[in-house]
Amino acid sequence: MNLAILGMGTVGCGVVDVLSENREKITGLIGEEITISHVYVNNVDKERSVDLGGAIITDDINSLLDSDDIDTVVEVMGGMEATRDILTKFLKKGIHVVSANKDMLAKYIDELSLVAEDNGASLLYEASIAGGIPIVNAIEYGLNANRIHKVMGILNGTTNYILSKMTKDGWDYQQALEEATEKGYAEADPTNDVDGFDAQRKIVLLSRLAYERKVDIDEVPVTGIRDVQLKDIKNAKAAGFRLKLVGKSEFDGVGMSIEVAPVLLPADHQLASVEYEKNAVYVMGNAVGETMFYGPGAGGMETASAVVSDLINCMKNQNVACKGPRPDQFAQMKMSDQPCR
Ligand code: NAP
Ligand code: HSE
Repeated sequence: MNLAILGMGTVGCGVVDVLSENREKITGLIGEEITISHVYVNNVDKERSVDLGGAIITDDINSLLDSDDIDTVVEVMGGMEATRDILTKFLKKGIHVVSANKDMLAKYIDELSLVAEDNGASLLYEASIAGGIPIVNAIEYGLNANRIHKVMGILNGTTNYILSKMTKDGWDYQQALEEATEKGYAEADPTNDVDGFDAQRKIVLLSRLAYERKVDIDEVPVTGIRDVQLKDIKNAKAAGFRLKLVGKSEFDGVGMSIEVAPVLLPADHQLASVEYEKNAVYVMGNAVGETMFYGPGAGGMETASAVVSDLINCMKNQNVACKGPRPDQFAQMKMSDQPCR
Protein backbone atom coordinates (compact mmCIF):
# COMPACT_ATOMS: atom_id res chain seq x y z
CA MET A 1 0.00 0.00 0.00
CA ASN A 2 1.63 3.22 -1.16
CA LEU A 3 1.09 6.27 1.00
CA ALA A 4 1.74 9.91 0.13
CA ILE A 5 2.15 12.28 3.05
CA LEU A 6 1.49 15.98 2.42
CA GLY A 7 3.42 17.90 5.10
CA MET A 8 6.27 16.63 7.26
CA GLY A 9 6.14 18.86 10.35
CA THR A 10 4.99 18.02 13.89
CA VAL A 11 2.16 15.68 12.84
CA GLY A 12 3.77 14.32 9.67
CA CYS A 13 6.86 13.22 11.61
CA GLY A 14 4.55 11.74 14.26
CA VAL A 15 2.83 9.68 11.54
CA VAL A 16 6.19 8.34 10.33
CA ASP A 17 7.16 7.47 13.93
CA VAL A 18 3.88 5.65 14.66
CA LEU A 19 4.05 3.71 11.38
CA SER A 20 7.62 2.71 12.15
CA GLU A 21 7.23 1.89 15.88
CA ASN A 22 4.02 -0.12 15.37
CA ARG A 23 4.80 -1.53 11.92
CA GLU A 24 4.27 -5.16 12.81
CA LYS A 25 0.88 -4.61 14.44
CA ILE A 26 -0.35 -2.29 11.66
CA THR A 27 0.77 -4.69 8.91
CA GLY A 28 -1.08 -7.49 10.72
CA LEU A 29 -4.25 -5.41 10.91
CA ILE A 30 -4.43 -4.41 7.26
CA GLY A 31 -2.73 -7.48 5.82
CA GLU A 32 -0.07 -5.60 3.90
CA GLU A 33 2.88 -3.25 4.45
CA ILE A 34 2.40 0.50 4.23
CA THR A 35 5.18 2.11 2.19
CA ILE A 36 5.66 5.87 2.30
CA SER A 37 6.16 6.43 -1.41
CA HIS A 38 5.91 10.25 -1.63
CA VAL A 39 6.35 13.19 0.74
CA TYR A 40 5.20 16.66 -0.30
CA VAL A 41 6.74 19.66 1.54
CA ASN A 42 7.58 23.32 1.07
CA ASN A 43 11.32 22.97 1.49
CA VAL A 44 12.85 19.76 0.15
CA ASP A 45 16.26 20.64 1.64
CA LYS A 46 15.04 20.91 5.24
CA GLU A 47 16.44 18.33 7.72
CA ARG A 48 13.68 16.04 9.04
CA SER A 49 13.75 14.32 12.41
CA VAL A 50 12.55 11.04 10.87
CA ASP A 51 13.90 8.52 8.37
CA LEU A 52 11.81 8.78 5.20
CA GLY A 53 13.43 5.70 3.64
CA GLY A 54 13.20 5.65 -0.14
CA ALA A 55 10.27 8.09 -0.35
CA ILE A 56 10.30 10.67 -3.14
CA ILE A 57 10.49 14.06 -1.40
CA THR A 58 9.13 16.84 -3.56
CA ASP A 59 7.66 20.33 -3.63
CA ASP A 60 5.88 19.58 -6.92
CA ILE A 61 2.29 18.56 -6.19
CA ASN A 62 1.64 17.72 -9.85
CA SER A 63 4.15 14.87 -9.70
CA LEU A 64 1.95 13.31 -6.98
CA LEU A 65 -1.31 14.07 -8.74
CA ASP A 66 0.03 12.51 -11.95
CA SER A 67 1.38 9.41 -10.21
CA ASP A 68 -0.46 6.11 -10.56
CA ASP A 69 1.41 4.63 -7.58
CA ILE A 70 -0.46 6.32 -4.70
CA ASP A 71 -3.26 4.47 -2.90
CA THR A 72 -3.88 6.82 0.03
CA VAL A 73 -3.00 10.39 0.96
CA VAL A 74 -2.43 11.76 4.45
CA GLU A 75 -2.80 15.55 4.52
CA VAL A 76 -1.00 17.12 7.48
CA MET A 77 0.19 20.40 5.95
CA GLY A 78 -2.69 22.78 6.68
CA GLY A 79 -3.90 25.49 4.30
CA MET A 80 -7.30 26.38 2.91
CA GLU A 81 -8.36 26.72 -0.74
CA ALA A 82 -5.17 25.34 -2.32
CA THR A 83 -5.36 22.29 -0.04
CA ARG A 84 -9.05 21.80 -0.78
CA ASP A 85 -8.24 21.84 -4.53
CA ILE A 86 -5.44 19.30 -4.11
CA LEU A 87 -7.57 16.96 -2.00
CA THR A 88 -10.47 17.27 -4.46
CA LYS A 89 -8.17 16.10 -7.25
CA PHE A 90 -6.99 13.07 -5.25
CA LEU A 91 -10.55 12.15 -4.26
CA LYS A 92 -11.70 12.43 -7.89
CA LYS A 93 -9.08 9.80 -8.73
CA GLY A 94 -10.68 7.54 -6.10
CA ILE A 95 -7.71 7.94 -3.75
CA HIS A 96 -8.56 7.82 -0.03
CA VAL A 97 -7.72 10.93 1.98
CA VAL A 98 -7.00 11.23 5.71
CA SER A 99 -6.78 14.83 6.91
CA ALA A 100 -6.05 16.59 10.20
CA ASN A 101 -6.91 19.98 8.72
CA LYS A 102 -9.85 21.35 10.72
CA ASP A 103 -9.44 24.87 9.30
CA MET A 104 -10.18 23.67 5.78
CA LEU A 105 -12.62 20.89 6.74
CA ALA A 106 -14.85 23.14 8.88
CA LYS A 107 -15.57 25.08 5.69
CA TYR A 108 -15.41 22.45 2.96
CA ILE A 109 -16.25 19.09 4.52
CA ASP A 110 -19.71 18.84 2.92
CA GLU A 111 -18.31 19.50 -0.54
CA LEU A 112 -15.33 17.16 -0.11
CA SER A 113 -17.47 14.37 1.39
CA LEU A 114 -19.67 14.39 -1.70
CA VAL A 115 -16.65 14.25 -4.02
CA ALA A 116 -15.32 11.32 -1.98
CA GLU A 117 -18.62 9.47 -2.02
CA ASP A 118 -19.20 10.02 -5.73
CA ASN A 119 -15.76 8.61 -6.51
CA GLY A 120 -15.71 5.63 -4.15
CA ALA A 121 -13.02 7.15 -1.95
CA SER A 122 -12.91 7.69 1.82
CA LEU A 123 -12.41 11.05 3.53
CA LEU A 124 -11.49 10.51 7.17
CA TYR A 125 -10.67 13.25 9.70
CA GLU A 126 -10.39 11.82 13.23
CA ALA A 127 -7.27 13.90 13.98
CA SER A 128 -8.95 17.18 13.14
CA ILE A 129 -10.94 17.28 16.40
CA ALA A 130 -9.31 17.03 19.84
CA GLY A 131 -6.00 15.49 18.68
CA GLY A 132 -5.62 11.92 19.90
CA ILE A 133 -9.13 11.53 21.38
CA PRO A 134 -11.11 9.19 19.08
CA ILE A 135 -14.22 11.36 19.26
CA VAL A 136 -15.24 11.10 15.59
CA ASN A 137 -15.37 7.31 15.83
CA ALA A 138 -17.11 7.52 19.21
CA ILE A 139 -19.93 9.67 17.83
CA GLU A 140 -20.12 7.99 14.44
CA TYR A 141 -20.07 4.40 15.68
CA GLY A 142 -20.21 4.15 19.48
CA LEU A 143 -23.09 6.59 19.94
CA ASN A 144 -24.95 6.06 16.66
CA ALA A 145 -28.01 4.62 18.45
CA ASN A 146 -28.60 8.00 20.13
CA ARG A 147 -30.15 11.29 19.23
CA ILE A 148 -27.48 13.70 20.46
CA HIS A 149 -28.64 16.87 22.18
CA LYS A 150 -25.48 18.48 23.46
CA VAL A 151 -21.74 18.56 22.74
CA MET A 152 -19.34 20.57 24.84
CA GLY A 153 -15.62 20.52 25.43
CA ILE A 154 -12.17 21.88 25.87
CA LEU A 155 -11.14 21.58 22.25
CA ASN A 156 -7.88 23.48 22.00
CA GLY A 157 -4.66 22.25 23.59
CA THR A 158 -2.70 25.49 23.20
CA THR A 159 -5.18 27.71 25.06
CA ASN A 160 -5.74 25.09 27.73
CA TYR A 161 -1.97 24.84 28.15
CA ILE A 162 -1.70 28.63 28.50
CA LEU A 163 -4.60 28.86 30.99
CA SER A 164 -3.24 25.92 33.04
CA LYS A 165 0.27 27.39 33.17
CA MET A 166 -1.16 30.74 34.29
CA THR A 167 -3.47 29.13 36.90
CA LYS A 168 -1.28 26.39 38.32
CA ASP A 169 2.25 27.73 37.78
CA GLY A 170 1.71 31.52 37.81
CA TRP A 171 3.27 31.96 34.35
CA ASP A 172 2.37 34.95 32.25
CA TYR A 173 0.41 34.59 29.02
CA GLN A 174 3.30 35.23 26.61
CA GLN A 175 5.67 32.81 28.33
CA ALA A 176 3.03 30.05 28.27
CA LEU A 177 2.20 30.68 24.58
CA GLU A 178 5.89 30.45 23.67
CA GLU A 179 6.23 27.09 25.40
CA ALA A 180 3.02 25.75 23.77
CA THR A 181 4.48 26.74 20.40
CA GLU A 182 7.83 25.10 21.20
CA LYS A 183 6.06 21.88 22.13
CA GLY A 184 4.28 21.79 18.74
CA TYR A 185 0.76 22.36 20.12
CA ALA A 186 0.13 25.77 18.55
CA GLU A 187 -0.85 26.33 14.93
CA ALA A 188 1.65 27.87 12.49
CA ASP A 189 -0.26 31.09 13.23
CA PRO A 190 -1.26 30.87 16.92
CA THR A 191 -3.87 33.59 16.36
CA ASN A 192 -6.21 30.75 15.42
CA ASP A 193 -5.64 29.15 18.81
CA VAL A 194 -5.71 32.15 21.14
CA ASP A 195 -8.60 33.93 19.41
CA GLY A 196 -10.74 30.79 19.57
CA PHE A 197 -10.97 30.06 15.81
CA ASP A 198 -9.40 26.62 16.16
CA ALA A 199 -11.98 25.63 18.80
CA GLN A 200 -14.70 27.19 16.62
CA ARG A 201 -13.72 24.92 13.71
CA LYS A 202 -13.77 21.89 15.96
CA ILE A 203 -17.20 22.61 17.47
CA VAL A 204 -18.52 23.09 13.91
CA LEU A 205 -17.18 19.67 12.85
CA LEU A 206 -18.41 18.03 16.07
CA SER A 207 -21.89 19.53 15.81
CA ARG A 208 -22.24 18.54 12.16
CA LEU A 209 -21.29 15.00 13.08
CA ALA A 210 -23.44 14.80 16.21
CA TYR A 211 -26.63 16.31 14.75
CA GLU A 212 -26.13 15.31 11.09
CA ARG A 213 -26.88 18.83 9.96
CA LYS A 214 -24.92 21.44 8.00
CA VAL A 215 -23.32 23.99 10.29
CA ASP A 216 -22.28 27.34 8.86
CA ILE A 217 -19.06 28.43 10.54
CA ASP A 218 -19.86 32.09 9.93
CA GLU A 219 -22.82 31.76 12.31
CA VAL A 220 -20.72 30.55 15.24
CA PRO A 221 -19.86 33.33 17.74
CA VAL A 222 -16.33 33.13 19.07
CA THR A 223 -14.37 34.84 21.85
CA GLY A 224 -10.77 33.86 22.57
CA ILE A 225 -8.40 34.28 25.52
CA ARG A 226 -6.07 36.98 24.19
CA ASP A 227 -7.26 39.55 26.73
CA VAL A 228 -7.09 37.28 29.77
CA GLN A 229 -4.81 38.72 32.49
CA LEU A 230 -2.95 36.83 35.22
CA LYS A 231 -4.92 38.82 37.80
CA ASP A 232 -8.25 37.57 36.31
CA ILE A 233 -7.05 34.00 36.69
CA LYS A 234 -5.88 34.58 40.27
CA ASN A 235 -9.18 36.20 41.24
CA ALA A 236 -11.16 33.34 39.68
CA LYS A 237 -9.03 30.75 41.45
CA ALA A 238 -9.43 32.51 44.82
CA ALA A 239 -13.21 32.47 44.33
CA GLY A 240 -13.20 28.70 43.57
CA PHE A 241 -13.43 28.88 39.76
CA ARG A 242 -11.26 27.87 36.79
CA LEU A 243 -11.17 29.80 33.54
CA LYS A 244 -11.45 27.49 30.50
CA LEU A 245 -12.03 28.06 26.79
CA VAL A 246 -15.13 26.00 26.06
CA GLY A 247 -16.84 25.15 22.77
CA LYS A 248 -20.43 24.02 23.07
CA SER A 249 -23.58 23.41 21.08
CA GLU A 250 -27.09 22.22 21.81
CA PHE A 251 -29.71 20.89 19.41
CA ASP A 252 -33.40 20.42 20.30
CA GLY A 253 -34.39 18.70 17.06
CA VAL A 254 -35.17 22.01 15.33
CA GLY A 255 -32.76 24.75 16.34
CA MET A 256 -29.13 24.79 17.41
CA SER A 257 -27.28 27.09 19.83
CA ILE A 258 -23.52 27.14 19.42
CA GLU A 259 -20.57 29.22 20.64
CA VAL A 260 -16.94 29.30 21.75
CA ALA A 261 -16.02 31.46 24.75
CA PRO A 262 -13.93 31.55 27.93
CA VAL A 263 -16.06 30.27 30.80
CA LEU A 264 -15.65 30.34 34.59
CA LEU A 265 -16.23 26.77 35.78
CA PRO A 266 -16.62 25.77 39.44
CA ALA A 267 -13.38 24.03 40.50
CA ASP A 268 -15.23 20.72 40.97
CA HIS A 269 -16.71 20.77 37.42
CA GLN A 270 -15.52 17.79 35.30
CA LEU A 271 -13.96 20.08 32.69
CA ALA A 272 -12.17 22.20 35.32
CA SER A 273 -9.65 19.43 36.03
CA VAL A 274 -8.66 19.03 32.36
CA GLU A 275 -5.22 20.63 32.37
CA TYR A 276 -2.36 21.64 30.04
CA GLU A 277 -2.61 20.27 26.46
CA LYS A 278 -5.30 17.78 27.41
CA ASN A 279 -8.78 18.07 25.84
CA ALA A 280 -12.11 16.64 26.93
CA VAL A 281 -15.39 16.28 25.07
CA TYR A 282 -18.76 15.85 26.75
CA VAL A 283 -21.53 14.30 24.62
CA MET A 284 -25.12 13.90 25.79
CA GLY A 285 -27.26 11.29 24.00
CA ASN A 286 -30.93 10.53 24.62
CA ALA A 287 -30.27 6.83 25.29
CA VAL A 288 -26.84 6.81 26.92
CA GLY A 289 -27.14 10.07 28.88
CA GLU A 290 -23.88 11.83 29.70
CA THR A 291 -20.55 10.65 28.27
CA MET A 292 -17.10 12.17 28.53
CA PHE A 293 -13.95 11.59 26.45
CA TYR A 294 -10.53 12.73 27.67
CA GLY A 295 -7.02 12.73 26.22
CA PRO A 296 -4.25 14.68 24.48
CA GLY A 297 -5.59 17.50 22.31
CA ALA A 298 -2.36 18.22 20.46
CA GLY A 299 1.16 16.93 19.81
CA GLY A 300 2.94 14.94 17.10
CA MET A 301 2.63 11.29 18.17
CA GLU A 302 -0.70 11.93 19.92
CA THR A 303 -2.31 13.37 16.80
CA ALA A 304 -0.61 10.76 14.63
CA SER A 305 -2.39 8.09 16.69
CA ALA A 306 -5.66 9.37 15.21
CA VAL A 307 -4.26 9.82 11.68
CA VAL A 308 -2.85 6.30 11.53
CA SER A 309 -6.05 4.88 13.01
CA ASP A 310 -7.97 6.45 10.10
CA LEU A 311 -5.42 5.00 7.72
CA ILE A 312 -5.87 1.50 9.14
CA ASN A 313 -9.68 1.79 9.16
CA CYS A 314 -9.75 3.04 5.61
CA MET A 315 -7.51 0.16 4.48
CA LYS A 316 -9.55 -2.42 6.38
CA ASN A 317 -12.86 -1.20 4.91
CA GLN A 318 -11.83 -0.70 1.31
CA ASN A 319 -15.42 -0.67 0.16
CA VAL A 320 -16.64 1.86 2.69
CA ALA A 321 -16.84 5.30 1.19
CA CYS A 322 -17.67 8.26 3.43
CA LYS A 323 -18.89 7.79 6.95
CA GLY A 324 -22.33 9.13 7.91
CA PRO A 325 -25.16 10.29 5.67
CA ARG A 326 -24.44 12.21 2.49
CA PRO A 327 -24.43 15.92 3.32
CA ASP A 328 -26.94 16.54 0.52
CA GLN A 329 -29.36 14.37 2.51
CA PHE A 330 -28.96 16.32 5.75
CA ALA A 331 -32.20 17.71 7.20
CA GLN A 332 -32.58 21.45 7.66
CA MET A 333 -31.55 23.08 10.92
CA LYS A 334 -32.04 26.67 12.01
CA MET A 335 -29.98 28.67 14.49
CA SER A 336 -31.72 29.08 17.82
CA ASP A 337 -32.04 32.51 19.41
CA GLN A 338 -31.51 30.86 22.82
CA PRO A 339 -27.98 30.99 24.26
CA CYS A 340 -26.14 27.77 25.15
CA ARG A 341 -26.63 26.79 28.78
P1 NAP B 1 3.75 22.06 10.89
O1 NAP B 1 4.62 21.48 11.92
O2 NAP B 1 3.83 23.53 10.62
O3 NAP B 1 4.07 21.28 9.51
C1 NAP B 1 3.47 21.63 8.32
C2 NAP B 1 4.17 20.84 7.20
O4 NAP B 1 3.47 21.06 5.99
C3 NAP B 1 5.61 21.24 6.97
O5 NAP B 1 6.37 20.10 6.70
C4 NAP B 1 5.54 22.12 5.72
O6 NAP B 1 6.69 21.99 4.87
C5 NAP B 1 4.35 21.55 5.00
N1 NAP B 1 3.62 22.54 4.22
C6 NAP B 1 2.89 23.59 4.71
N2 NAP B 1 2.34 24.26 3.70
C7 NAP B 1 2.71 23.63 2.56
C8 NAP B 1 2.48 23.86 1.18
N3 NAP B 1 1.73 24.88 0.76
N4 NAP B 1 3.05 23.03 0.28
C9 NAP B 1 3.83 22.00 0.70
N5 NAP B 1 4.08 21.73 1.99
C10 NAP B 1 3.54 22.54 2.90
O7 NAP B 1 2.22 21.73 11.17
P2 NAP B 1 1.61 20.58 12.09
O8 NAP B 1 1.58 21.05 13.50
O9 NAP B 1 2.26 19.29 11.76
O10 NAP B 1 0.09 20.59 11.60
C11 NAP B 1 -0.26 20.06 10.34
C12 NAP B 1 -1.79 20.01 10.21
O11 NAP B 1 -2.32 19.20 11.27
C13 NAP B 1 -2.48 21.36 10.34
O12 NAP B 1 -3.64 21.34 9.54
C14 NAP B 1 -2.89 21.41 11.82
O13 NAP B 1 -3.98 22.26 12.06
C15 NAP B 1 -3.26 19.96 12.05
N6 NAP B 1 -3.16 19.49 13.44
C16 NAP B 1 -2.05 19.75 14.18
C17 NAP B 1 -1.96 19.25 15.48
C18 NAP B 1 -0.76 19.50 16.33
O14 NAP B 1 -0.77 19.13 17.51
N7 NAP B 1 0.30 20.09 15.82
C19 NAP B 1 -3.02 18.50 16.00
C20 NAP B 1 -4.16 18.26 15.21
C21 NAP B 1 -4.20 18.75 13.91
P3 NAP B 1 8.17 22.43 5.32
O15 NAP B 1 8.51 21.55 6.50
O16 NAP B 1 9.03 22.15 4.17
O17 NAP B 1 8.07 23.86 5.70
N1 HSE C 1 -3.35 23.96 17.72
C1 HSE C 1 -4.24 22.90 18.04
C2 HSE C 1 -4.47 22.88 19.54
C3 HSE C 1 -3.68 21.59 17.56
O1 HSE C 1 -3.69 23.53 20.25
O2 HSE C 1 -5.41 22.24 19.99
C4 HSE C 1 -4.64 20.44 17.70
O3 HSE C 1 -5.75 20.59 16.86
